[in-house]
Amino acid sequence: MYSYGTPKTCLLTEAEGLHQFHRDLPPTPMWLYNGTFPGPTFVNQLGVPTVIRRINNLDPNYIGFGIPETSMHHHGGHQGPVDDGWPLDFIVPGQYRDHLIPNIVPDGDSNEWPSTLWYHDHTIDHTAGNVYHGLAGMSWHFDALDTGNENDKDPNKKPLRLPSGEYDIPLVFRDVALNQDGSLFFDQLNDKGQVGNLMTVNGKVAPYLKVARRKYRFRLLAGSMAREYLLSLSDGSPFQIIASDGGLLPAPVTATQLRMANAERYEIVVDFSRYPIGKQLTLDDFLVYSPTGDGNKPDGVSTVGNPLMLFVVDRDAPDNSRVPLKLRPLTPVKGVKIAATRDLVLHRTNGMWVINDTVWNPAVPMFKPKLGTFEIWNVSVKGGGWNHPLHIHQEFFRVLKRNGVAPAAHEAGRKDVILVWNDSPVQLLVGFRTYTGPYVFHCHNLGHEDMAMMAWYDVQP
Ligand code: C2O
Ligand code: CU
Repeated sequence: MYSYGTPKTCLLTEAEGLHQFHRDLPPTPMWLYNGTFPGPTFVNQLGVPTVIRRINNLDPNYIGFGIPETSMHHHGGHQGPVDDGWPLDFIVPGQYRDHLIPNIVPDGDSNEWPSTLWYHDHTIDHTAGNVYHGLAGMSWHFDALDTGNENDKDPNKKPLRLPSGEYDIPLVFRDVALNQDGSLFFDQLNDKGQVGNLMTVNGKVAPYLKVARRKYRFRLLAGSMAREYLLSLSDGSPFQIIASDGGLLPAPVTATQLRMANAERYEIVVDFSRYPIGKQLTLDDFLVYSPTGDGNKPDGVSTVGNPLMLFVVDRDAPDNSRVPLKLRPLTPVKGVKIAATRDLVLHRTNGMWVINDTVWNPAVPMFKPKLGTFEIWNVSVKGGGWNHPLHIHQEFFRVLKRNGVAPAAHEAGRKDVILVWNDSPVQLLVGFRTYTGPYVFHCHNLGHEDMAMMAWYDVQP
């Protein structure tokens, strides 16, 4: 049906291990991919498939939150149903499973090639506990346009030459709560989504990064259970947003703050050349979650930033990188034929999170789109004042409208997570171009997801 090139293979082992969030904190027992949190970063090239052999070496007798039966979803990836991490396709300790990440694009359209994805556990009813345990990592994507080499002067290609190598840096945000002994605190009865009091970046509380006076590319992932972020640099200075969930934007967007819902990715370029050596600044979050509150939505916006990490400008360095005015084009959606229009109402009823009044039902698909078609999905939240970051598997969607009008430029690219709240319905264009079969869609507040705010569609031949 599809033919792929010779795959690259990699091993991904899930096992217990100790992780230290800060040198002054006791080590925390976690579940780690290849021994680290976040897990190893996969590096993908367009057209070169990767096979991930995932081995479950967790303790079969484990008791606590989460479950040592694991599934794995390459979030945002365009992969077949058997490789996608269907929540019931879990493996038990001692088993392994191979995931083919084909690294193809729908319709062969290289505009659909992503930039920063992530992967994480996706086991039915236990995604929050398993991801919180540490089962999450990043997946980066390169091709002839975004080569990952800022010095690429090949005249036959037109590489963008974005900041690369040691100047291309992941920033995974995750809030945690620890018990006295350093173990993770997790409230299994919390169906609102857990928020923690310790903010971490790349698994560290209050880390610092020594930076050179030049441009950096940062790949941001809101990798929490529920928490949203509103990010700014402490001096309020601008940065350029160059990518969202589904890859590079058509053009950089200059901003001084950035809102992120759980599971969203954005990439920004910060130019530190404007600062003198010795300058220190922080990356701050402005959203308030009260300790007695819940993860349904932030309680408010603070006027004072909460620093997540420190940048210390400590040297000069050459900078051949560029941020061109044109990045990766958006394939026009005008004139696309619409095969169906669907409504998705996100809501809470009888203490359950529901989509169109139904909870997760593995036996019955909510929709049956036809292969090779596009649909319009109108997504809204009914009552309650809750926020829901909706995630759709299999193919990036486009946000046609937010609240009746065109979305902001940074939300107008290819995306796979969209935050929906009361009074802000969205209209999405969703494609089903490559694979038949079952794919899930769900709220990516993991507390909501595990409390059954998930459904699936079954692409028909
Ligand atoms: Cu990031 Cu269905 O998940
Ligand atoms: Cu939700």
